[in-house]
Amino acid sequence: MAKTVVTPWEVKGEIDYEKLMKEFGVSPMPELPEEFRENLLFRRGKIFAQRDFERIIEAYKKKKPFVMMTGLMPSGSFHIGHMILARQMIFYQSIGAKVYIAVADLEAYNARGTSIEEGRKIAIDQYISNYIALGLRPENCEIYFQSARSKNAKKSNAYYSLQNLLSRHATFNEFRAVYGEITPGKMISSLLQASDMLHAQLPEFEGKVPVVVPVGIDQDPHIRLARDMSGRIKEYSFLQLSSTYHQFVPGLDGGKMSSSDPLFHVTLLDDPKTVKNKINKYAFSGGQPTIEEHRKHGGNPDIDVPYQWLTFLEEDDKKLKQIHDGYKSGKMLTGELKAILIDKLNVFLEEHQKKREAAKKRVDEFILKA
Ligand code: TRP
Repeated sequence: MAKTVVTPWEVKGEIDYEKLMKEFGVSPMPELPEEFRENLLFRRGKIFAQRDFERIIEAYKKKKPFVMMTGLMPSGSFHIGHMILARQMIFYQSIGAKVYIAVADLEAYNARGTSIEEGRKIAIDQYISNYIALGLRPENCEIYFQSARSKNAKKSNAYYSLQNLLSRHATFNEFRAVYGEITPGKMISSLLQASDMLHAQLPEFEGKVPVVVPVGIDQDPHIRLARDMSGRIKEYSFLQLSSTYHQFVPGLDGGKMSSSDPLFHVTLLDDPKTVKNKINKYAFSGGQPTIEEHRKHGGNPDIDVPYQWLTFLEEDDKKLKQIHDGYKSGKMLTGELKAILIDKLNVFLEEHQKKREAAKKRVDEFILKA
């Protein structure tokens, strides 16, 4: 296996979450209220680490306002990995948070060469319509474009001014930690991302409320930069940002799922045949090479990608345990396990794709509202 690398621009090799927690200096999850534990991602430890998350739990318990903020890079197609973040948006909205979602169209332009028009189109077709189909509601939700924060000049001015003021409070090395190779455009983008994370607390927006940013652990350098700058700038007194870190849904080959590897992910628009083919052909298996050996020694669910996907997709803990135990004991064969996943995905996708068609007509309820 390749040497492990986990940076915002590259993830490869074997991922050891315990080790990463130490390396990044993030904390384990605290005791969570029941409503959180009802959510699969919290209950199963898929969201496994945090910074300053107690502040969010406290706001939740005291029924005080708080914000969940995240951003999307408009590129490629919306896949099962992206769904993990969408599920968190919808969860937080359901427990009373206000949701802010930034479409990183300026970042896509500066860091990846995507035109603003193309970025907008991808954001709507691939991301926003899928969020709506998954259950995001327009109330308590603002989706905005980095290139067009608000129709309200006071709000827009505040957001872009904050980006500008933050620039005095960052160093060149900090930018490098976020993008590796740095260009003027990438520098500007990381300042804008910091403003994304912090601006909800400005008086023009929600005022001084706790903000949580859920991300994959590879994105932590962005969080660190925003947290450090927010402490250095004296013109504002921000509450320190909270963040949580979720595990990656593995790609079918066992690496990190990526938009640029269409063979190794499943998108939310794939048809049943494609899903079946991809999983049967490419999913890395923890099974034994022959049926005899498999019956005798059993499979290894810990490295088996179809099983790992089910840990994100199968809501029923009992059912999941039966699959786990059946596979591990050798009673369940690799083909049977794959068939369970294929069926699970195709039942879900059929329903989802209908909802997404309807959702396409509702996008305007979500963007540039204020
Ligand atoms: N840089 C993020 C990405 O590559 C997108 C992003 C922009 C973002 N602003 C954000 C993520 C604010 C979290 C919070 O996907």
